[in-house]
Amino acid sequence: MDHFTYWDGELYAEDVALRELADRIGTPFFCYSTATLERHYRVFAEAVAGLDASICYAVKANSNVAVIASLARLGAGADVVSGGELQRALAAGVAPHKIVFSGVGKTREELAEALKAGVTRINVESDPELDTLSGVAAGLGITADIAVRINPDVDAKTHEKITTGKSENKFGIDLAVAQAVYARAAKLPGINVCGVALHIGSQLMDLAPYREAYGRAVDFVRVLRAEGIGIEHLDLGGGLGITYKDEIAPSPADYGAMATEVVGDLDVKVTFEPGRVITGNAGVLVTRVLFVKEGLAKRFCIIDGAMNDLIRPTLYSAHHEIVPVFKASATSPHVIMDVVGPICESGDYIAKDRSLPMLVAGDLLAIRTTGAYAAVMGSTYNTRPLAPEVLVNGDECAVIRRRFTVEDMLGLESFPAWLRDEPPIRAEGAE
Ligand code: LLP
Repeated sequence: MDHFTYWDGELYAEDVALRELADRIGTPFFCYSTATLERHYRVFAEAVAGLDASICYAVKANSNVAVIASLARLGAGADVVSGGELQRALAAGVAPHKIVFSGVGKTREELAEALKAGVTRINVESDPELDTLSGVAAGLGITADIAVRINPDVDAKTHEKITTGKSENKFGIDLAVAQAVYARAAKLPGINVCGVALHIGSQLMDLAPYREAYGRAVDFVRVLRAEGIGIEHLDLGGGLGITYKDEIAPSPADYGAMATEVVGDLDVKVTFEPGRVITGNAGVLVTRVLFVKEGLAKRFCIIDGAMNDLIRPTLYSAHHEIVPVFKASATSPHVIMDVVGPICESGDYIAKDRSLPMLVAGDLLAIRTTGAYAAVMGSTYNTRPLAPEVLVNGDECAVIRRRFTVEDMLGLESFPAWLRDEPPIRAEGAE
């Protein structure tokens, strides 16, 4: 369910016509719907209401401060995986006591930053990280509340690049050795062990792997408690899948019921880290057709959006629905085409062999379900400025990230002395 709908044959984001935005801002741009974000957050919150639950929105899915702030207003905390994301969450007004810090490779500086900010918990993913954190925390005179992220060795049955809960993945600590890590952690200075965390992957379309992994985590909490290690928090991660085409994703209600059933009588505070399920279909990428090129083997629709704006088709063979902003009449013939960007790689495509109404230069298209893992994964490849982001709220709209400019990019770069019009600086002793 989302709030991108056709009125009189024209696609709107809530009460704002996408065509108007395109005229004002230029293309390509991302457009997010507040009503959709809010609806998804509320549906998820209701689904887990039977638990003593905190929802820490996984900022990596869409880290625009206005998006984070929209969710924070509803009570969301944040799951962050870098010092940068931590700064974003704080800038968006998320209280530090609602922020968990996850991630497989945190630097000493990031750990110190998180401790000083007062985040609620750090999810530790390895033995050396534990020692580093202990040293940093003790040095600052702060006690770090931690969970250890366990790797339950469960196949999430999702794309290989986004599965994280198998022992061959880099994430978490193998369940077989986790007990020893907890025993050691309990004795380390600067460390207060209070939780168990896990996250088995993203875009999960089946609840069975969750049930298995969560069951293992619950058993493990019982083992730790029997050893006298007080576990008050269980962080169940994120990963709930959504519909991109016509797949049937598990509903948040079914997911919540499963989690409640598995964790229900453990007497524990539960953290969820949903990302995609909150923001995924709350966004579209609006792009304009540049040319339609009739090749010998194929028809190519060349648009002004590209893989630097949306890498998911190239990286994960992901499907994104593409719809014309002006709904073609029901009778208009559909033709098969590849929808591609201007980047100089054959990998630069948004869709292959897609059936769309015949398009002409200047037509506007909306690439759907691009509210998660789209703008955040953008790059400036081919010196293409990052696309702007717009947030709609009823009949209001605001640019929440302006378009990057080539000047922005050039402003970050400089010539070394030997390429400037100056006497060259030579290393000492050089001839
Ligand atoms: N918690 C942790 C520790 C995570 O690593 C992730 C996602 C989440 C929560 C949120 O997962 P979600 O609810 O959004 O599935 N770029 C990929 C997805 C990468 C997900 C990485 N971790 C994509 O475009 O499909």
